[in-house]
Amino acid sequence: MAASIIDGKQIAADVRAEVAAEVKKMQAAGGPTPGLAVVLVGEDPASQVYVNNKDKACQEVGFNSFKHELPADTSEEDLLALVEELNGREDVHGILVQLPLPGHIDAERVLMAISPDKDVDGFHPMNVGRLAVGAPVFVSCTPAGVIELLKRSGAELEGADAVVVGRSNIVGKPVALLLLQENCTVTICHSRTKDLAAVCRGADVLVAAVGVPEMIKGDWVKEGATVIDVGINRTDDGLVGDVEFEAAAERARAITPVPGGVGPMTIAMLLKNTLLAAELASRDR
Ligand code: GUN
Repeated sequence: MAASIIDGKQIAADVRAEVAAEVKKMQAAGGPTPGLAVVLVGEDPASQVYVNNKDKACQEVGFNSFKHELPADTSEEDLLALVEELNGREDVHGILVQLPLPGHIDAERVLMAISPDKDVDGFHPMNVGRLAVGAPVFVSCTPAGVIELLKRSGAELEGADAVVVGRSNIVGKPVALLLLQENCTVTICHSRTKDLAAVCRGADVLVAAVGVPEMIKGDWVKEGATVIDVGINRTDDGLVGDVEFEAAAERARAITPVPGGVGPMTIAMLLKNTLLAAELASRDR
């Protein structure tokens, strides 16, 4: 049986359309127009593309987008001063400082300076902690996108055996916490895991976030499993995920492609977080 392919592009477009509709509703009810400030320091070409994509996505759903492009030699103090200014602005509901930052800036310090109420990246320890205690507010965009894909592709999460391969702070750990929140029985695997193949074969839901091309073999996938591949690896054969796609697709119920799976979801979830930030801010006033 061939798996159904989870269309991340389409699902992301659906999410963006829902956000755009919510913005109209909010404005009609006299609420604020959500505003996202994106800060880029330096001229890393990949970061410039990401920031421009975020800016465009904001405009398409009717948000205000405030793009701040600072020179590579911007001091940490000046960046912190900008974050403080944005923290205080009523028309800015979300703040995103694009990573990586130049080496002379302490990224941790900058991320900590962003108000937890505007931390739409979900990187502030306050938001990480809220997720850990089961009361998530802003969840970082890639992990949130993984859960959205699972739900919208019809995966049964309640009581499911979920296996997350990879324990990074930005993907593996938060994905595991979110799956726990959905009442999965969660196993987190990593480089020291004994018999990874056997653990994966028990997974009803398998999330791969290791960054090793096609490390998860097709015959490690349980018949009927849902497979989410977070990996984006550049190889001589082009972009490939962490999962051996063709072989896995013969066994899975549903699987994400690379590219076109998790990737398109991240900006969609950023928009959702910014909308939530604007809603919460207008409720507090
Ligand atoms: N750089 C690459 N991805 C991200 C992200 O999700 N957030 C931020 N702030 N920087 C990034």
